[in-house]
Amino acid sequence: MGSISMPEKPHAVCIPYPAQGHINPMLKLAKLLHHRGFHITFVNTEFNHKRLLKSRGPDSLNGLPSFQFKTIPDGLPPSDIDATQDIPSLCKSTSSYCIGPFKELLARINDEAKSSSQIPPVSCIVSDGVMSFTVEAAEELGVPEILFWTTSACGFLGYMHYRQLIEKGLIPLKDESDLTNGYLEQKLDCIPGMKDIRLRDLPSFLRTTNPDEYMIEFVLQETGRAKKASAIVLNTYEKLEPDTLSALSSILPPVYSIGPLHFLQERVNDESLALLGSNLWKEETECLDWLDTKDPNSVVYVNFGSITVMTPDQLVEFAWGLGNSEQTFLWVIRPDLVSGDSAILPPDFLEETKERSLLCNWCPQEKVLKHPAVGGFLTHSGWNSTLESISFGKPMVCWPFFAEQQTNCWFSCTQWGIGMEIDPNVKRNEVESLVRELMVGEKGKEMKKNALEWKRKADEAVNGSSESNLEKVIEVLLQSK
Ligand code: UDX
Repeated sequence: MGSISMPEKPHAVCIPYPAQGHINPMLKLAKLLHHRGFHITFVNTEFNHKRLLKSRGPDSLNGLPSFQFKTIPDGLPPSDIDATQDIPSLCKSTSSYCIGPFKELLARINDEAKSSSQIPPVSCIVSDGVMSFTVEAAEELGVPEILFWTTSACGFLGYMHYRQLIEKGLIPLKDESDLTNGYLEQKLDCIPGMKDIRLRDLPSFLRTTNPDEYMIEFVLQETGRAKKASAIVLNTYEKLEPDTLSALSSILPPVYSIGPLHFLQERVNDESLALLGSNLWKEETECLDWLDTKDPNSVVYVNFGSITVMTPDQLVEFAWGLGNSEQTFLWVIRPDLVSGDSAILPPDFLEETKERSLLCNWCPQEKVLKHPAVGGFLTHSGWNSTLESISFGKPMVCWPFFAEQQTNCWFSCTQWGIGMEIDPNVKRNEVESLVRELMVGEKGKEMKKNALEWKRKADEAVNGSSESNLEKVIEVLLQSK
């Protein structure tokens, strides 16, 4: 009798861009693929691997025989600090340096596969959209690669139009004064699915007069290479972004929306996988007990994500705005949130609000947003935060900081009816009135109703379009080249 050869397990190498808002959704996708029978190698940078060990302990990275963590250097000078790396430097470094170490890692994995029955050879690559140097490695190996853009569809479409904006002479800006003279307020009609969006609502890297600005070059490079992927994946859902998704589909390889990933991931109920986490800061879970003591919809949750940096003055304006709003609030102040010195809050403010506030450094955000006590979210409009808020039915006050957060904010406020924007030059009076409106005003009620409707549609997508799109993504990954 001839021997029966078992089909080899597929092996996906998943490589996120090395920042919090990218590692989180990539880990979720990796767990889903593992659940569907893939062997997974998850690639972190050495810098983040060390931070993850520190914030979550070794169990968080021990993995399973079929879910392994590997590292590559990011090319930046070694550092032990526990803070977000400078984004332009990191983009420059990953895009010029990481290809060598990444290819070597793939070769090592395939060598190991030859002598181990536990490790199948690499059969596909799942890469962050802004780590598109990996496309070259996939081509060399002859395996399919999907690019996972962890932004919204609208944000990604904004990036895709940078070249056109340059060709039209709209960017870079002609003069520094264009930053303040109303130039950015002009409405554009050249981007499908974004009628009347203002220049200032597009991803913020265009706010420069420098024709050699690296972040513009980076956007052009990454969006250009998106066309070479076997497919593009986005953490959004069809009913939320139908027009921008269809605009993207008309200019790119197949585009699949498979979000909200934190919902799809709930079906992965493997205990050892649940231990694998991605928080770069240590989670303070006491805030959940505190929320348990509060009435439904009575707490404003305030968090500016993993990259935002504000000035000490801006921090004080937010503090007094929250204080004067007379609302109860949970405020997460990341240790590196404030530029220069550590965050110093006015003693009067601390004294005045101590009965109705809780401050912490980093929290389990999804659990916080899911909590019934949270009635609204003061956010920087990062895409993960926005999608998490939408899917738990929480309206927002938005203070976008950079990248495509401005675009997420515009969609939240003008298209989805679930947000109100705070002026970039934040003042306490505006914070006070918008936070009060969010929590107890008529507009707040309307936004809450809309948010619950988007939540319902997100729930539907999990057992509908996003689920079937995930199947299509898996088909692409299983195709041999
Ligand atoms: C942002 C954008 O989202 C991204 O699209 C852009 O390209 C770069 O900047 P970030 O500031 O990390 O990233 O925000 P966000 O996308 O909201 O991601 C933050 C993630 O960290 C979320 O998943 C959130 O749940 C988590 N988080 C944040 C916590 O778990 N606890 C916290 O206290 C804060």
